[in-house]
Amino acid sequence: MAKPKVLVTWPYLFPEADELLRKETEATYHRVERPITRQELMEAIADKEGLLCMLFDRIDAEVMDAALKLKVISNLGVGLDNIDIEAATQRGIVVTHTPGVLTEATADLGWALLMATARLIPQAHNFTVEGKFKGLRYHLFLGKDLVGKTLGIYGMGRIGTALARRAKGFKMRVIYHNRHPNPQGEEITGARYVSFQELLRESDFLVIVAPLTPETQGRFGIEEFSQMKRDAILINIGRGAIVRERELVEALKGGLIWGAGLDVYEREPEIERELLELDRVVLLPHIGSATVETRTAMALMAVRDLVRVLKGEKPQHSPNWDKIRG
Ligand code: GLV
Repeated sequence: MAKPKVLVTWPYLFPEADELLRKETEATYHRVERPITRQELMEAIADKEGLLCMLFDRIDAEVMDAALKLKVISNLGVGLDNIDIEAATQRGIVVTHTPGVLTEATADLGWALLMATARLIPQAHNFTVEGKFKGLRYHLFLGKDLVGKTLGIYGMGRIGTALARRAKGFKMRVIYHNRHPNPQGEEITGARYVSFQELLRESDFLVIVAPLTPETQGRFGIEEFSQMKRDAILINIGRGAIVRERELVEALKGGLIWGAGLDVYEREPEIERELLELDRVVLLPHIGSATVETRTAMALMAVRDLVRVLKGEKPQHSPNWDKIRG
């Protein structure tokens, strides 16, 4: 029997995942190492039953209508804001993603970014490699303590809980805000549910871990920053558009908060230019889950679920399988 045709929007995944995909499907990979253009996507997807896409590919109704045989969209990542799930459900297309496997790596990155921002690590590194280190100076790169401070988490899901768990080692008080309280997360971490205003007012380190939804979009702007502590640090490892980037620049320049560490951006991959020039800012290129082990596990999970759906089996992680087949 002919294998189902699948489009992968990047030239390669990871060896094990590529091997499995090639064994089970007739896979076509996007040929170049840059995001597939809309035009290329619309053409390449026309005869495909499966699509394995990246977080930066926007998959909307128009794309789906260019792929009349499409049965499954497998997203290489946990966030699903790049896919119109409702449009997929209406067309009977199953969407899958990769939650769980990236939780610990992303929580680690959240901490790395928090500590790098609090202790000005990249700035100190640059200073050193530029040959400016002329011996210990008592006022050089003064950062912020973590011990005894309050960690605020905006979005206490799997990753938020893993982040909060790590705070125990730093003897931090943990508070969080979510759409709904998360009793299980509280039990694991000792975190306390607070209102959004309390989160703003009380956090010394406020970490955004939430997904991008109509409620979280643009949630942090100048009004929110002005309610935060003057020496607070904002970390964003969720989605860039939760923060109004221009207003964050204003807040940092105006001393409303002390510093910021960002792994995600409002108009990714564009970055508000002035952010690049500020002293107490650490910027990363969306690498939350970027470890060899985790990215390999994500690719395998994405391929396995794609293959499951193509075989008519239930995928492990789908936001719309039950609606379509339930
Ligand atoms: C990363 O941002 C993901 O959603 O997997």
